[in-house]
Amino acid sequence: MTFATIDADRPLRGVVAGAGFIGGHWAPELLAHPGTELVGWVDVAEERARAAARELGLDDLPVSSSLTAVLDGEEPDFLVNCTVPQAHHEVTVTALRRGVSVLSEKPMAVTLEQARSMVRAADDARRLFAVNQNRRFMPGLVAFRRTVAELGPLGLMTSEFFMPYRGPAFLDTLEHPLVQDMAIHLFDAARAVSGADPVSVYCESFQAPWTWYPGACSAAAIFEMTGGLRYTFTGSWSAPGRPTSWTGNWRAAGARGTACWDGDGDPTADAAKGHVVRPHKQEPDPYPGRNRYTGLAEGLEEFVTGLRTGRPPQGECHDNIRSVAMVTAALESVRTGARVPIVV
Ligand SMILES: NC(=O)c1ccc[n+]([C@@H]2O[C@H](COP(=O)([O-])OP(=O)(O)OC[C@H]3O[C@@H](n4cnc5c(N)ncnc54)[C@H](O)[C@@H]3O)[C@@H](O)[C@H]2O)c1
Repeated sequence: MTFATIDADRPLRGVVAGAGFIGGHWAPELLAHPGTELVGWVDVAEERARAAARELGLDDLPVSSSLTAVLDGEEPDFLVNCTVPQAHHEVTVTALRRGVSVLSEKPMAVTLEQARSMVRAADDARRLFAVNQNRRFMPGLVAFRRTVAELGPLGLMTSEFFMPYRGPAFLDTLEHPLVQDMAIHLFDAARAVSGADPVSVYCESFQAPWTWYPGACSAAAIFEMTGGLRYTFTGSWSAPGRPTSWTGNWRAAGARGTACWDGDGDPTADAAKGHVVRPHKQEPDPYPGRNRYTGLAEGLEEFVTGLRTGRPPQGECHDNIRSVAMVTAALESVRTGARVPIVV
């Protein structure tokens, strides 16, 4: 994997695609970062992009419903893809083929075939393509990852996610809303925390009798990971009480002890007999006092550093596709009832 770096002594020119919920959080990040500027905003609903730009006082910002018009007219260095998941493939590949690097919202794509073709497009164009899994930057998750690193070789890791959630209407159109939409946050966190990659999965996705979703929004999955680690996920978006945090409730067991995390505060650690394990604490917010969405500023900083130095950010596409594959293999296991190997 190689991508071209940008040496020009000027701020990097960025375009945002998608002016919905998360696009509205990304645009201010491009304005706040000292090394980037916002040079255009695209949305199939052009009025939405215009209104969002106006809200930030950017009355003169080029906005359009045409992605290619903005890419050709503004010649950006990078694009932040904040469109709906179904549009991620088309928008990302269009930008990459024009030599524009891409930082995308999760999930990279809705199928593994699409994700593979996006990685190929990045390779062919020699451009950086990364997905910002913003939860990797949560101070609590970083502290848990550091604590887990003290446990020695890992054997088991569990995450429980239970939330009584009534989400946007599009979730009602999905056959398996929890696995298709939410689970990638926890699956990617499992990779980040353990440092292990997925090998195979067995998954069931089903309807709890009391659910308010038309689809199956409760699931249980067992992943085999490299090194023999077993990672289990159980979750529901129809939790009848006692919710977990939005990042779930975690436990990891290794040769030297056990670490637990409630997905929110500081982790705890219990050493096995004869061992010492130090629980790490959360680092202070690197952007104190700033009203911002978790992990976007950190993700942009890693991406900009990547474009300047060639150092790949955490969500670089050749790595992130493994998290996509955890979701697509889990869905295949649900369909076939079999344990499915995970191959990217
Ligand atoms: N990381 C997080 O915590 C987080 C939170 C929310 C959303 N997301 C992700 O961000 C993405 C967008 O979610 P959202 O909640 O902002 O959705 P949204 O529906 O609020 O906004 C999406 C926007 O994309 C536009 N759009 C659709 N197709 C397009 C195309 N081909 N070209 C240009 N614009 C197009 C739509 O008109 C809409 O304005 C999704 O992938 C979602 O999973 C991530």
